Amino acid sequence: LASAEFDVSAVEEGQTITVKWRGKPVFIRHRTADEIASSEAVSLDELRDPETDAARVESAEWLVVMGICTHLGCVPIANAGDYGGWFCPCHGSHYDVSGRIRKGPAPLNLEIPPYKFTGDANLLVG
Ligand code: FES
Repeated sequence: LASAEFDVSAVEEGQTITVKWRGKPVFIRHRTADEIASSEAVSLDELRDPETDAARVESAEWLVVMGICTHLGCVPIANAGDYGGWFCPCHGSHYDVSGRIRKGPAPLNLEIPPYKFTGDANLLVG
C-alpha cells in the first residue's frame, strides 16, 4: 500500500505524466537538456522558497513532485505558466521545471514525495 512502482520508459523528453500514489497525483517529468540547464542556472535569491535544482532531483532528467498546489491544493497544469513548468488555474500560481514556486499566491515549492529509481526507467514512489 505504501509504495507504488511505475515504468517511465515510454515518457518522452519534455513530457509529463501524472500517476497516483496514496490517492494523490504525482507528476513525473522527463526533462530536456535545456530544462535541466535553465533550472540549474536559477540563482537562489530569485526564489521564494530557495532550493537548488540539484537538491530536488535524484537524477537530473527526472523531476518527481506531488501534483498538489501548495496554495490551496488544486492540481496544477503541466507545461504551462510563465516558467514552463506548471500553472495552477485556481488562483494563478506559476511553478518552474524544478517545481519551484515563481509567481502567484502559493508559498512553497511543489512537494517531493519519497522515491527512488530501481532501474533505468523504474520508479518506486513511497
Ligand atoms: Fe493553486 Fe490557489 S490552489 S493558486
